[in-house]
Amino acid sequence: MDNPITLSIRDARAGYATLDILNGVTLDVPQGEFVALMGPNGAGKSTLLKTVFGMTTFKGGEIKWQGEHIERLATREILGRGISYVPQGRCNFPLMTVQENLEMAAYTIRDGKVKAERDYVLELFPSLAKRRKTLAGNMSGGEQQLLEVAMAVLQRPKLLLVDEPSVGLSPAAVGIVFDELLRLRDTGMTILLVEQNTKKAMEVADRAVILRLGEVIWDGSPAEITHDELGELFLTGKMRGERELEAAHSNSLSR
Ligand SMILES: Nc1ncnc2c1ncn2[C@@H]1O[C@H](COP(=O)(O)OP(=O)(O)O)[C@@H](O)[C@H]1O
Ligand SMILES: [Mg+2]
Repeated sequence: MDNPITLSIRDARAGYATLDILNGVTLDVPQGEFVALMGPNGAGKSTLLKTVFGMTTFKGGEIKWQGEHIERLATREILGRGISYVPQGRCNFPLMTVQENLEMAAYTIRDGKVKAERDYVLELFPSLAKRRKTLAGNMSGGEQQLLEVAMAVLQRPKLLLVDEPSVGLSPAAVGIVFDELLRLRDTGMTILLVEQNTKKAMEVADRAVILRLGEVIWDGSPAEITHDELGELFLTGKMRGERELEAAHSNSLSR
């Protein structure tokens, strides 16, 4: 945990038009680490990733990336600074082949390098290279998820935001997708992952963050929390010790 902080979020408030979803999120992502963001449905996990990527209504606080403010930048500029995003759910072009999907992902590259960038990614993901002429929609869920990660990696990001890549996948496919993410981390890429599969996320993450009702309620190393404590946090927003203290306090007040 001695790595320098590369993404620093301070008291971020954001949402959709007049709707407030993030109520002051503070979070540091160290350089080169795999950070898992977890929390119950509707906690604001996707909103937080979208906020980093400039896709929500920003309302206050700050987001610094490599020391510079990015909270008011357009998505395109954020992408240009080395942050890439894999949205939640299927987001490829199912009626296009793997290589056509990668060419679509290179749409921001306008100087005739589209095929070179596509081939760079195919080299990085040999399992996709084998499927380059296959229609994306005809591949398994795991292969499609890998393609979507590859589409984001094509931008050569330093920080990869990945939203729930394990949804709907078999345990074996989840394993493959996570292995690929770890491999990217090992090349020096920083990863901020949103994940509902807490067991898997806790196995692989360098650091875990729990979001509830638009606020970070826990932040630490996966080794510092048990699976039961994690479940408790999801349900109540508090650790057992804290709840016992509160119960004792209210008992003493009612006496
Ligand atoms: N585009 C949107 N417009 C309005 N409200 C939204 C939009 N997207 C999500 N929300 C709301 O924001 C809250 C947090 O959603 P989200 O960030 O998707 O949660 P999570 O990813 O943790 O499940 C939810 O109440 C959801 O209904
Ligand atoms: Mg979500």
